[in-house]
Amino acid sequence: MPETVEVPTAPGRLPLVGHLFKLLGNPMPFLESLRAQGDIVRVFFGPLEVYVILRPQLFHEVLVRKSGAFRKGRLLDKVRSFLGNGLLTSEGEFHHRQRRLMQPAFHRRRIAEYVDLMRRNAEGATADWRPGQAVDLQELFDDLSLRNVSEALFSSELGQASHDEVLRWLRVVMRGAAIRTLAPTDLLQKLPTPGNRRFDEANTRFRRVVDEVIRTYRADDVDRGDLLSMVLAARDEETGRGMTDAQARDELQTLLLAGAETTASAMGSLFHEVSRHPAVARRLHGELDEVLGGRPLRYEDIARLEYTRCVVDEALRLATPVWMTMRRTATEVTLGEARLPAGAEILLSFPVVHRDPDAYPDPLAFDPDRWLRRGPRDLPPGAYLPFAAGNRKCIGDHFAWMELLVTMAVIGSRWRLEPAPGHRPKRIYRTVTRMSRLTMTAVPRAQTGLCLPSGAVQNPPPT
Ligand code: HEM
Repeated sequence: MPETVEVPTAPGRLPLVGHLFKLLGNPMPFLESLRAQGDIVRVFFGPLEVYVILRPQLFHEVLVRKSGAFRKGRLLDKVRSFLGNGLLTSEGEFHHRQRRLMQPAFHRRRIAEYVDLMRRNAEGATADWRPGQAVDLQELFDDLSLRNVSEALFSSELGQASHDEVLRWLRVVMRGAAIRTLAPTDLLQKLPTPGNRRFDEANTRFRRVVDEVIRTYRADDVDRGDLLSMVLAARDEETGRGMTDAQARDELQTLLLAGAETTASAMGSLFHEVSRHPAVARRLHGELDEVLGGRPLRYEDIARLEYTRCVVDEALRLATPVWMTMRRTATEVTLGEARLPAGAEILLSFPVVHRDPDAYPDPLAFDPDRWLRRGPRDLPPGAYLPFAAGNRKCIGDHFAWMELLVTMAVIGSRWRLEPAPGHRPKRIYRTVTRMSRLTMTAVPRAQTGLCLPSGAVQNPPPT
């Protein structure tokens, strides 16, 4: 047995309620300050003892090398009560089986088939923009990402009404989910307040529409060429069994919830960073002009959009949407040089590793060129984790990445987006981190030639 070291404890005990407010402010300075104290630091939030992991190689140990010694933990316990037992929340053999059934629907080749849908939706979302118009991009991306994921999941043959219904209730569920996940106690959610009643109603309605969609699919038994058709047709290789309707509903709900706000947040950060880095915007627009020459994007173009791909990778590094997740040790486990007891709550903050100064020179700079010099695979294990890693890695990683690239290519080919005068975008931390509002002025690129942003600031500090 290797020698183990004592885990340092952060001084003080953060009160639970204070902790909640801290999280709803900006938790990053606090989390990053822990790096100076060790590779793992014990923090007390009221009575709750949490081990915060701070080094890339230890993230890799938790998520990949020793993943068998961990369960999902406290954060996901809370989500399970309204999300059911889908991929995000299920554990062990059940999760393994469900993942096997669903993985083929998210294969890279399948995702390529959704490029047209993503392009059409981005074109549709911006079709009524007028030169000089102020647009709230974050709101637009909330709708766009929901539309992309719901249309890819279940076919538009089912009609606009089902999609609109899903989008309507899902929005309310998502808002309530954020509050419920971060709240220190479940007690408040049981009170008959108007907010709780609205959440419960939305959750019931949302489930009802999803159930209806599944019933229609089962009744027709037609392959509609979408993700849900694949998921329902999938059979376990060993047992030959597929999913029950209840399992399919939990999975569909999970995909809609896990796939919408995360991507909307990433889109917001991507456009925010590009708008305040004129040199990056210039090169990006130049590449889009050269590769696309004004025609619509096709899947084959993506390999040639080398700089655009770097811009997406860099935005996912610096402003990664999932700012924290948790795990719980299932057994006593040695991490690096520390031994953690069974039942220990672990906090993993992906932005912490994405700002690790050993892995990234000048970590706070938005510098897409760093990805021209080396790809994500050249980094030390555990240093680049926008979609996590290991057996719980995001199943929608290729889908989301493609949405970011397609949306940037469609909008960037036609429009230059300038930060609106007087608007100060603010980053907020909920279940994901995102820009609260993102008001920009849309300037047609054809009108201005290659983009030369006027009011943008050089090398602004990260938000
Ligand atoms: C930029 C967008 C996205 C980001 C940054 C992101 C990030 C993540 C991360 C970090 C996890 C791991 C969470 C944990 O283990 O605690 C995760 C899991 C998951 N994500 Fe995503 N995600 C994104 C988009 C999507 C999309 C588009 C979908 C589906 C359409 C999706 C579906 C899921 C599911 C089902 C899981 C659970 C996987 C499992 O445990 O087997 N995500 N995501």
